[in-house]
Amino acid sequence: MDIQDERRRLLDAEGTDEYETVTGVRSEQDIYLDKVQNGKLYLAVFVSVLGPLSFGFVLGYSSPAIPDLITTNDDRVRLNDDQASWFGSIVTLGAAVGGLLGGWLVERIGRKLSLMFCSLPFVFGFAIITAAQNLWMLYVGRALTGLASGVTSLVVPVYISEIAHERVRGTMGSCVQLMVVTGICGAYVAGTYLGWRWLALCCSLPPTLLIVGMCFMPETPRYLLSQGKRREAEEALRFLRGPDAPVQWECARIEEACDHQGAGFKVSDLLEPCVYKPLAIGVLLMFFQQATGINAIMFYAENIFEDAHFDNRALGTVIVGLTQVFFTGIAALIMDRAGRKVLLCISGVAMTISAAVFGVFFHLTTGQHNNTSVRAMASGVEGSLGAGPEVDLAWLALASMGIFIAGFALGWGPIPWLVMSEIFPSNVKGFASAVCVLTNWGNAFIITKCFQDLLALLTNAGTFWLFSSMCAINVVFTIAFVPETKGKTLEQIQDNFRGTPAQ
Ligand code: BGC
Repeated sequence: MDIQDERRRLLDAEGTDEYETVTGVRSEQDIYLDKVQNGKLYLAVFVSVLGPLSFGFVLGYSSPAIPDLITTNDDRVRLNDDQASWFGSIVTLGAAVGGLLGGWLVERIGRKLSLMFCSLPFVFGFAIITAAQNLWMLYVGRALTGLASGVTSLVVPVYISEIAHERVRGTMGSCVQLMVVTGICGAYVAGTYLGWRWLALCCSLPPTLLIVGMCFMPETPRYLLSQGKRREAEEALRFLRGPDAPVQWECARIEEACDHQGAGFKVSDLLEPCVYKPLAIGVLLMFFQQATGINAIMFYAENIFEDAHFDNRALGTVIVGLTQVFFTGIAALIMDRAGRKVLLCISGVAMTISAAVFGVFFHLTTGQHNNTSVRAMASGVEGSLGAGPEVDLAWLALASMGIFIAGFALGWGPIPWLVMSEIFPSNVKGFASAVCVLTNWGNAFIITKCFQDLLALLTNAGTFWLFSSMCAINVVFTIAFVPETKGKTLEQIQDNFRGTPAQ
């Protein structure tokens, strides 16, 4: 092994359990982390994830609210099918714009203030929906809550990755998705008891708590140091790491990385490998997350439950929500042990197989395979449920949907957001994360809007086989290009892209 290989091995091992075996000594990093207390860090993460909780409520809101709004006696706000589809999808458009706004905000006003700022469109959006007197108020409310979701989906992962340390960053970062799915599930559950106006009012609670709670939480040390505010950065670190940790050591380490990275984003930075490589990976992760078809499948979930003779459709959606929460919780618990790549691969394989089985199910049950709408898909299934053996096939659909959703929750749900927050140098974080968020929400919009056309073009079976192939490509992409970030400091991750050993 030559000296270069040896350095690379050390670099890869640093911050991991293997480091001690490789070097025979405990690293400075380990000695430092042993002195850290995590209580206040957990508190800051808990407060910040009220943002993703609110964004989950926005995503989950349409499911119970739309049937209510379609059947309401109030002519002013009654939705037809087309209006209902806009009411559902306008959120993704608002979020795509919110991603751009968030990228600008995190650099201009910092991570903490951006987080406080994004509570406002959440609260106003839900207030407008609660008070809606016409369709436009409903659309504006949804667009505003979507905008807030876009800002949140950028700012919270960045905030958490910058306050957490490498021993817990994976678990803390996965709490973003955990709270998104908890919010979705919370909206489904609350929606079984509350009408759409009361539900909107209830959804405005988490963002209100977020704005109050964030008043007491610190700005991230990395942002403060990038602004030259060393004293404030040390104070923030002292809050986050407890009284025993020698925070000057961590401060010096971050400061050095900030010096390397220069101030602010310049277009010429895009020529640097430590910028274009992570940017390409981040954008592709977001594209592939949506290409799995998760949002289309979640949308269709209700019909599958209905057709599998679950009389209580609302209970079906709650079960989907709980499955997501449970498996995302497991992912969060094992993220810092299993690593990102392994979980992405397991998740990709589970989704490839289950989406393929879904396709087979449609191939066997829809006869001419020429149904062209989700409703028609449902009735195609329903038509097949009368006779004995085919009832079992509905359970096949149910099982493959369960595995698909669990698989997504284990990897492709939380990890793209987590990796996005870990791989960019500080000076391009705002710009690069905005491009990622725009890609994610833009694709979410396209896929949910084009789902019907895909069904018409490719048949139901073909559409799910397409999703299955995309999941298979995800696995190949993960193995070939996604870096393992487990146990590394943000600086070490960026040094890996640069191809230089960490200091
Ligand atoms: C995705 C959303 C999806 C949600 C559902 C998020 O990670 O970005 O598009 O609706 O997970 O679990």
